[in-house]
Amino acid sequence: MAANDKDVVRDHEYDGIKEYDNPTPGWWNFIFFATFVFSIWYFLYYHASTISTSVAQGFENDVTDDLKKRFSTIGDLKQDEPTLIKYMANAEWKSVGASVFKTNCVSCHGPDAAGQVGPNLTDDNWKNVQQLADIPKVIANGAAAGAMPAWKTRLHPNEVVLVAAYVASLRGKNLPGPRGPEGAKIPPWPLQAAAGKP
Ligand code: HEC
Repeated sequence: MAANDKDVVRDHEYDGIKEYDNPTPGWWNFIFFATFVFSIWYFLYYHASTISTSVAQGFENDVTDDLKKRFSTIGDLKQDEPTLIKYMANAEWKSVGASVFKTNCVSCHGPDAAGQVGPNLTDDNWKNVQQLADIPKVIANGAAAGAMPAWKTRLHPNEVVLVAAYVASLRGKNLPGPRGPEGAKIPPWPLQAAAGKP
Protein backbone atom coordinates (compact mmCIF):
# COMPACT_ATOMS: atom_id res chain seq x y z
CA MET A 1 0.00 0.00 0.00
CA ALA A 2 1.29 3.41 -0.85
CA ALA A 3 1.70 5.91 1.97
CA ASN A 4 -0.92 8.30 0.64
CA ASP A 5 -3.65 5.66 0.56
CA LYS A 6 -6.62 6.53 2.71
CA ASP A 7 -9.59 4.47 3.66
CA VAL A 8 -12.01 5.38 0.88
CA VAL A 9 -15.59 4.30 1.31
CA ARG A 10 -16.76 2.92 -2.01
CA ASP A 11 -19.91 4.39 -3.46
CA HIS A 12 -22.04 1.26 -3.52
CA GLU A 13 -24.17 -0.07 -0.75
CA TYR A 14 -25.82 -3.45 -0.22
CA ASP A 15 -28.51 -3.87 2.43
CA GLY A 16 -27.12 -0.87 4.27
CA ILE A 17 -23.59 -2.20 4.18
CA LYS A 18 -20.85 -0.02 2.78
CA GLU A 19 -17.25 -1.07 2.36
CA TYR A 20 -13.77 0.37 2.16
CA ASP A 21 -11.58 -0.28 -0.80
CA ASN A 22 -8.77 -2.22 0.84
CA PRO A 23 -7.26 -4.64 -1.64
CA THR A 24 -5.13 -7.51 -0.34
CA PRO A 25 -1.57 -6.22 -0.01
CA GLY A 26 0.98 -6.98 -2.67
CA TRP A 27 3.15 -9.10 -0.38
CA TRP A 28 0.11 -11.24 0.42
CA ASN A 29 -0.65 -11.80 -3.26
CA PHE A 30 3.00 -12.54 -3.88
CA ILE A 31 3.02 -15.32 -1.27
CA PHE A 32 -0.27 -16.67 -2.56
CA PHE A 33 0.98 -16.99 -6.14
CA ALA A 34 4.35 -18.24 -4.96
CA THR A 35 2.57 -21.21 -3.33
CA PHE A 36 1.04 -22.02 -6.72
CA VAL A 37 4.38 -22.03 -8.43
CA PHE A 38 5.88 -24.04 -5.59
CA SER A 39 3.14 -26.65 -5.74
CA ILE A 40 3.67 -27.20 -9.48
CA TRP A 41 7.39 -27.63 -8.92
CA TYR A 42 6.74 -29.88 -5.91
CA PHE A 43 4.32 -32.09 -7.81
CA LEU A 44 6.65 -32.48 -10.79
CA TYR A 45 9.70 -33.14 -8.65
CA TYR A 46 8.29 -35.50 -6.04
CA HIS A 47 5.35 -37.18 -7.75
CA ALA A 48 5.54 -36.95 -11.54
CA SER A 49 9.25 -37.42 -12.09
CA THR A 50 11.63 -40.22 -11.28
CA ILE A 51 14.25 -37.78 -9.96
CA SER A 52 12.92 -38.00 -6.45
CA THR A 53 10.30 -39.91 -4.52
CA SER A 54 7.76 -38.64 -2.03
CA VAL A 55 8.73 -38.79 1.61
CA ALA A 56 6.30 -41.66 2.22
CA GLN A 57 7.64 -43.61 -0.75
CA GLY A 58 11.21 -42.93 0.32
CA PHE A 59 10.42 -44.27 3.76
CA GLU A 60 8.89 -47.44 2.33
CA ASN A 61 11.90 -47.98 0.08
CA ASP A 62 14.20 -47.60 3.05
CA VAL A 63 12.20 -50.06 5.12
CA THR A 64 12.26 -52.58 2.27
CA ASP A 65 15.98 -52.12 1.76
CA ASP A 66 16.58 -52.61 5.45
CA LEU A 67 14.40 -55.71 5.43
CA LYS A 68 16.29 -57.21 2.52
CA LYS A 69 19.59 -56.56 4.23
CA ARG A 70 18.35 -58.26 7.34
CA PHE A 71 16.94 -61.21 5.36
CA SER A 72 20.51 -62.19 4.66
CA THR A 73 20.98 -62.64 8.41
CA ILE A 74 18.21 -65.25 8.65
CA GLY A 75 18.91 -67.04 5.35
CA ASP A 76 16.13 -68.75 3.40
CA LEU A 77 13.35 -69.70 5.77
CA LYS A 78 11.66 -73.06 5.34
CA GLN A 79 7.89 -73.18 5.13
CA ASP A 80 7.74 -75.86 7.81
CA GLU A 81 6.37 -76.20 11.30
CA PRO A 82 9.59 -75.77 13.34
CA THR A 83 10.43 -72.57 11.42
CA LEU A 84 6.96 -71.18 11.96
CA ILE A 85 7.01 -71.98 15.66
CA LYS A 86 10.39 -70.33 15.96
CA TYR A 87 9.29 -67.11 14.27
CA MET A 88 5.94 -66.98 16.05
CA ALA A 89 7.98 -66.59 19.23
CA ASN A 90 10.27 -63.91 17.81
CA ALA A 91 8.73 -60.51 18.42
CA GLU A 92 11.04 -58.58 16.11
CA TRP A 93 10.55 -60.76 13.06
CA LYS A 94 6.89 -61.21 13.81
CA SER A 95 6.54 -57.45 13.55
CA VAL A 96 7.95 -57.72 10.02
CA GLY A 97 5.18 -60.28 9.34
CA ALA A 98 2.69 -57.85 10.86
CA SER A 99 3.83 -55.09 8.51
CA VAL A 100 3.53 -57.40 5.49
CA PHE A 101 0.01 -58.17 6.68
CA LYS A 102 -0.81 -54.51 7.12
CA THR A 103 0.35 -53.67 3.61
CA ASN A 104 -1.14 -56.60 1.69
CA CYS A 105 -3.83 -58.41 3.60
CA VAL A 106 -6.02 -56.01 5.59
CA SER A 107 -8.02 -55.05 2.50
CA CYS A 108 -9.61 -58.51 2.55
CA HIS A 109 -9.02 -59.88 6.03
CA GLY A 110 -9.65 -56.66 7.94
CA PRO A 111 -7.23 -54.56 10.03
CA ASP A 112 -7.37 -56.97 12.97
CA ALA A 113 -7.68 -60.09 10.75
CA ALA A 114 -11.23 -60.76 11.95
CA GLY A 115 -12.39 -61.10 8.33
CA GLN A 116 -14.08 -59.06 5.61
CA VAL A 117 -13.86 -60.42 2.06
CA GLY A 118 -11.69 -63.24 3.44
CA PRO A 119 -12.25 -65.37 6.52
CA ASN A 120 -11.53 -64.59 10.14
CA LEU A 121 -7.93 -65.58 10.88
CA THR A 122 -8.18 -65.28 14.66
CA ASP A 123 -10.46 -68.22 15.45
CA ASP A 124 -10.23 -72.02 15.45
CA ASN A 125 -12.13 -72.58 12.20
CA TRP A 126 -10.17 -72.87 8.99
CA LYS A 127 -11.08 -73.71 5.42
CA ASN A 128 -7.75 -74.46 3.80
CA VAL A 129 -5.63 -75.18 6.81
CA GLN A 130 -5.37 -78.42 8.79
CA GLN A 131 -1.99 -77.82 10.36
CA LEU A 132 0.44 -74.97 10.93
CA ALA A 133 2.52 -75.58 7.80
CA ASP A 134 -0.57 -75.24 5.60
CA ILE A 135 -0.69 -71.49 6.31
CA PRO A 136 2.39 -70.51 4.26
CA LYS A 137 1.15 -72.87 1.51
CA VAL A 138 -2.21 -71.11 1.26
CA ILE A 139 -0.51 -67.72 1.33
CA ALA A 140 2.00 -68.72 -1.37
CA ASN A 141 -0.43 -70.52 -3.66
CA GLY A 142 -3.74 -68.79 -2.97
CA ALA A 143 -7.11 -70.48 -2.60
CA ALA A 144 -10.64 -70.54 -3.96
CA ALA A 145 -9.52 -70.00 -7.55
CA GLY A 146 -7.75 -66.74 -6.76
CA ALA A 147 -10.31 -65.24 -4.38
CA MET A 148 -7.39 -65.59 -2.00
CA PRO A 149 -4.53 -64.43 -4.27
CA ALA A 150 -1.27 -66.39 -4.60
CA TRP A 151 1.45 -64.30 -2.99
CA LYS A 152 4.52 -66.26 -4.04
CA THR A 153 5.15 -63.99 -7.01
CA ARG A 154 4.56 -60.80 -5.03
CA LEU A 155 6.27 -61.45 -1.72
CA HIS A 156 9.78 -62.57 -0.86
CA PRO A 157 9.66 -66.24 0.27
CA ASN A 158 10.79 -65.14 3.72
CA GLU A 159 7.95 -62.64 3.84
CA VAL A 160 5.52 -65.48 3.18
CA VAL A 161 6.89 -67.41 6.16
CA LEU A 162 6.97 -64.36 8.43
CA VAL A 163 3.44 -63.25 7.59
CA ALA A 164 2.33 -66.89 8.08
CA ALA A 165 3.93 -66.89 11.54
CA TYR A 166 2.19 -63.61 12.31
CA VAL A 167 -1.19 -64.96 11.13
CA ALA A 168 -0.71 -68.17 13.11
CA SER A 169 0.02 -66.15 16.23
CA LEU A 170 -3.37 -64.42 15.96
CA ARG A 171 -5.22 -67.66 16.59
CA GLY A 172 -6.89 -67.72 19.98
CA LYS A 173 -7.78 -64.02 19.88
CA ASN A 174 -11.19 -65.17 18.68
CA LEU A 175 -12.25 -61.71 17.56
CA PRO A 176 -15.86 -61.54 16.52
CA GLY A 177 -15.80 -61.32 12.73
CA PRO A 178 -18.55 -60.22 10.36
CA ARG A 179 -18.51 -63.58 8.57
CA GLY A 180 -18.88 -66.00 11.46
CA PRO A 181 -16.84 -69.21 11.71
CA GLU A 182 -15.95 -70.73 8.33
CA GLY A 183 -14.58 -74.21 7.68
CA ALA A 184 -13.79 -76.88 10.20
CA LYS A 185 -12.53 -76.52 13.74
CA ILE A 186 -8.95 -77.81 13.66
CA PRO A 187 -6.65 -79.07 16.41
CA PRO A 188 -4.55 -76.41 18.18
CA TRP A 189 -1.09 -75.50 16.88
CA PRO A 190 1.54 -77.76 18.46
CA LEU A 191 2.93 -75.02 20.72
CA GLN A 192 -0.53 -74.11 21.96
CA ALA A 193 -1.23 -77.79 22.64
CA ALA A 194 2.05 -78.00 24.55
CA ALA A 195 1.06 -74.97 26.62
CA GLY A 196 -2.35 -76.51 27.29
CA LYS A 197 -4.22 -73.77 25.46
CA PRO A 198 -7.10 -74.57 23.08
C1 HEC B 1 -8.38 -60.12 -2.50
C2 HEC B 1 -8.72 -60.50 -1.14
C3 HEC B 1 -7.65 -61.15 -0.29
C4 HEC B 1 -6.40 -60.70 0.02
C5 HEC B 1 -5.75 -59.40 -0.43
C6 HEC B 1 -5.82 -61.64 0.91
N1 HEC B 1 -6.71 -62.67 1.13
FE1 HEC B 1 -6.36 -64.30 2.30
N2 HEC B 1 -8.17 -65.06 1.73
C7 HEC B 1 -9.10 -64.44 0.93
C8 HEC B 1 -10.24 -65.31 0.75
C9 HEC B 1 -11.50 -64.97 -0.05
C10 HEC B 1 -9.96 -66.48 1.47
C11 HEC B 1 -10.86 -67.72 1.60
C12 HEC B 1 -10.56 -68.69 0.51
C13 HEC B 1 -11.53 -69.83 0.51
O1 HEC B 1 -12.74 -69.55 0.55
O2 HEC B 1 -11.09 -70.99 0.49
C14 HEC B 1 -8.65 -66.28 2.07
C15 HEC B 1 -8.03 -67.23 2.86
C16 HEC B 1 -6.83 -67.02 3.54
C17 HEC B 1 -6.23 -67.97 4.44
C18 HEC B 1 -6.78 -69.35 4.77
C19 HEC B 1 -7.94 -69.18 5.72
C20 HEC B 1 -8.71 -70.46 5.90
O3 HEC B 1 -9.68 -70.42 6.67
O4 HEC B 1 -8.36 -71.45 5.30
C21 HEC B 1 -5.10 -67.39 4.94
C22 HEC B 1 -4.12 -68.00 5.95
C23 HEC B 1 -4.97 -66.11 4.32
N3 HEC B 1 -6.06 -65.92 3.47
C24 HEC B 1 -3.95 -65.22 4.55
C25 HEC B 1 -3.76 -64.06 3.82
C26 HEC B 1 -2.58 -63.25 3.92
C27 HEC B 1 -1.41 -63.49 4.85
C28 HEC B 1 -2.74 -62.23 3.02
C29 HEC B 1 -1.75 -61.12 2.69
C30 HEC B 1 -0.44 -61.51 2.25
C31 HEC B 1 -4.04 -62.40 2.39
N4 HEC B 1 -4.60 -63.51 2.89
C32 HEC B 1 -4.55 -61.53 1.47
C33 HEC B 1 -8.98 -63.19 0.38
C34 HEC B 1 -7.82 -62.41 0.41
